Amino acid sequence: MQQFTAVVLAAGLGKRMKSKIPKVLHPICGLPMVQHVVNTAFAAGFGKIVVVVGHGGEGVRRVLGDRVEYAAQSEQLGTGHALLCARDAAATEHVIVLSGDAPLLAAETLAGLARRHLDTGAGATVLTAELEDPSRYGRVMRDESGSVLGIVEEKDATPEERAIREVNTGTYCFKRRVFDLLESVGTENAQGEYYLTDALSAFRREGASVEAQKLDDPREGEAPNDRVQLAATAALMQHRILENLMLSGVTIVDPSNTYVDAGVVVGADTVLLPGTMLHGATVIGENCTIGPFSQVRDTEIGNGVTIQQSVVVGSRIDHGATIGPFSYLRPETVVKQAAKVGGFVEVKKSTIGEKSKVPHLSYVGDCTIGTGVNIGAGTIVVNYDGVHKHPTVIGDRAFIGSNTNLIAPVTVGEDAFVAAGSTINRPVPEGALAIGRARQVVKENWRRKRD
Ligand code: UD1
Ligand code: CA
Repeated sequence: MQQFTAVVLAAGLGKRMKSKIPKVLHPICGLPMVQHVVNTAFAAGFGKIVVVVGHGGEGVRRVLGDRVEYAAQSEQLGTGHALLCARDAAATEHVIVLSGDAPLLAAETLAGLARRHLDTGAGATVLTAELEDPSRYGRVMRDESGSVLGIVEEKDATPEERAIREVNTGTYCFKRRVFDLLESVGTENAQGEYYLTDALSAFRREGASVEAQKLDDPREGEAPNDRVQLAATAALMQHRILENLMLSGVTIVDPSNTYVDAGVVVGADTVLLPGTMLHGATVIGENCTIGPFSQVRDTEIGNGVTIQQSVVVGSRIDHGATIGPFSYLRPETVVKQAAKVGGFVEVKKSTIGEKSKVPHLSYVGDCTIGTGVNIGAGTIVVNYDGVHKHPTVIGDRAFIGSNTNLIAPVTVGEDAFVAAGSTINRPVPEGALAIGRARQVVKENWRRKRD
C-alpha cells in the first residue's frame, strides 16, 4: 500500500448534529468517529495518513496526535476543496480518500478497494452501497453497459436520478491526477460547493476509466449526519464488537444491554451479565464474572475475578479477587490475588494485598495493605488533613477492628491488632494490640434517679 496516501476528510462542522464540537469528534463505542477511521486506515496498511482539518481542528489534532499528518482547510468550501488542501502532503502516486464520519468501514474493505484500483488501472474507484432508502447520499450514475458515469448529489438530482439506489459511500481511490482535475471543478450546484464527486466525471471526460466497488454489507458505509443516525451507527458497531467477543468465547447474557468499547479485550469463558459497560483500555482475563450493572474503565483484570454492581476505574485486579456488590475502585488501586473488596467500599490509590479483605462499608485511600489483612466493617482511612494527602501502611496479617479511624500518616505493624472503635494516630508496633477509644462508663440506676 506504499503507493497510497490515505486522506481523511474531517474539516466539516456537521450542522445537523446541532453541536459545538465537530461531527467527527463525536464518539461511538469509546472513540471519536475520526479515530476509528484512522485506526482502520492503519490496519489496512496505509502507512501515511493525512487528515484534513478545519472546524474544531485543534480538537481533532489533540485526539489523533502525531501518528498522522495534517492539512488545514481554513474555509469549508466542499469535499473537492478539502482534498485539494492535502495536495502537498499527499505526494504518492495514488490517494485513498476516507470520510472522517464513516467509522464502520472494515480494514479489509479499504485494502480490497485499493487492490481493485491498482488492478484495473482506473483513474478513480468509488466504494458504493445499495440501499433501501438512498436519500441523503449521492447517487451513482451508470450507462447501459454498467460503466460508472459519475455521481449526482441528492440536492442536484432529477426525480429519475433520485430513484437510483446505489449510493456513494464517500470513500474513493484516485490517481494523483485528481488534484489537477479538481483545480478545474466549479461550484455550479445546489450547494455552491466544490464537489469531490465531480472528479469522477472529470476522469471520464478525459478517457480514464472509473470503477465502482459495491459493499457486500451496505451498512458498513453508514455515515451519520444527525444524532439519531449517530445512535444507529453506534448500535451497529456495538453489535459487531459483541458478536466478535461471543464468537471468541465470551458469554454475553443480554447483548442488548451490554456495552463494550472498541479495543477492550475479554478472555474466554468470562461472563458479562446485563448492565455491564466496559470502557477504554480495559483488559479482562478468562473465567471472570462481570456484572450485573458494573462499569469498568481503563482497568486490567486477571483470571477468575468477580465484579458485581460496582464502578472500577484505572485499577488492576488480580487473579481470583472479588469486588462488590456496590463498590467504587478509583484510579491506581491494585487488588491482589484472592483479595476481597466487599459491599459499599471505596478504594483510592491503594494496594490491597493477597488474600486481604475489606468486606464492608469502608474508605481506603493512599494506603498499602499487606497480605492476609482483615479490615473490619466501617473502617475509615483518614488520609486527608484538608491540605495534604498522607499515606497509611498496614503490615501482613494485621487485624483492624470494626469502626476504626486510621489517621494518616500512620503505620500498623505485621500481626498487630487494633481494637474495634479505635482512632489510631500513632504507629502500632508489630504484634501489638492498640486500643484508642474512651473507656465505657456505666452509671447504675441512672434512669430511676433522674426521674
Ligand atoms: C458526501 C458526498 C456524497 C456521499 C456522502 C457520503 C460530496 C459532494 N458528496 O456528501 O456523494 O454520498 O458524502 O457520506 O462529496 N468535509 C471537509 N471539508 C468540507 C466539506 C466536508 O473536510 O469543506 C468533510 C466532512 O467533515 C465529512 C466529509 O467531508 O467528514 C463528508 O462531508 P459531508 O458534508 O458529510 O458530505 P455529504 O453532504 O454527506
Ligand atoms: Ca455525510
